[in-house]
Amino acid sequence: MSSGFPLPTGFARSLVDWQRHSGRHGLPWQGSRDPYRVWLSEVMLQQTQVSTVLNYFPRFLARFPDVNVLAAAPQDDVMALWSGLGYYSRARNLHRCAQIVSTEHGGVFPDTALALQALPGIGASTAAAIAAFCHGERVSILDGNVRRVLTRLLAFDEDLALASAQKRLWGLAQALLPEQPTGDDMAAYTQGLMDLGATLCTRSRPACERCPVHATCQGFASGQPTRFPVKTRTLKRRHESWWLAILVSRSDDGVRRVWLERRPSRGIWADLYCPPVWGNELDARSQWAAARLVVQDLEPVSHSLTHRELRLHPLLVDTPDLAGAPNPEVGQWVRWEDLSTLGLPAPVRSMLDALQQGQ
Ligand code: ADE
Repeated sequence: MSSGFPLPTGFARSLVDWQRHSGRHGLPWQGSRDPYRVWLSEVMLQQTQVSTVLNYFPRFLARFPDVNVLAAAPQDDVMALWSGLGYYSRARNLHRCAQIVSTEHGGVFPDTALALQALPGIGASTAAAIAAFCHGERVSILDGNVRRVLTRLLAFDEDLALASAQKRLWGLAQALLPEQPTGDDMAAYTQGLMDLGATLCTRSRPACERCPVHATCQGFASGQPTRFPVKTRTLKRRHESWWLAILVSRSDDGVRRVWLERRPSRGIWADLYCPPVWGNELDARSQWAAARLVVQDLEPVSHSLTHRELRLHPLLVDTPDLAGAPNPEVGQWVRWEDLSTLGLPAPVRSMLDALQQGQ
């Protein structure tokens, strides 16, 4: 091969055999060729661990059993069931994708990786996973875990911060596929790549001695498999402090409510429900002081987003009646028991749960 990274022989066969004997089986989305289930699981599994998805996938399927039901659901219901999984643009894209499949494709997902990639929220790797699992298409996935597996296997030392290097790695991934897959070879191979990355070829302590392909792994042969992948540009998160006013009130019926506002459709926590937020402490405190409301500082919490490191400072504001809301146009009083029906950012849900338990 002209790329300078010779391909090992027998890789695909060894991986398929290993997956069948020693890979992961019995995950709730496995054993199905239903594109709806496979798509849903693959989107949930983007940047999210299997153990977390195990809690969400069955609930989501029970509420939205097929793509048409999902397409017809109110966005708030989708966000509510997604709440806590993070990366909420996935949920908005999921919903939009369902609507497109339902209205423009008669409720049937396209059956090639190329056509799947045209849909919102389906990148090249997710499209490949769906096409390989559901239709046995000979196409390679290349998510973060698989990049690690393949760069080690080939001792691929080009900088993955460069698009040209990523492109070359895609080409190599494609050249490593089973040559003439039959039956469910492509499904086993694809799952094998995922399983190897998740269970043996891990980021900091790969279990090379148990790896089915270590005999032909160039990273292992180099003695420093963790040198791969090479990526120079690392993500820098901006630090920000936010103050959240958690207004709690009782009405004449004696029921406790919390004031929540729907976040704008763009930016952090888009479309989720959240207490009012300020980026400046003085502004966050001043109006409650003017209204002589009691403000109690709760324990700050840190929360990481893709591009931000947030320090969240919750201020508990005891509001004597429901009239004392900051902006009735943008928010609403929500009963505690109704919180589970709304999409809330995970740290906000934890704060409100802790408050409820402290009562
Ligand atoms: N990560 C991404 N897709 C996955 C799958 N289908 N099974 C396990 N982990 C995954």
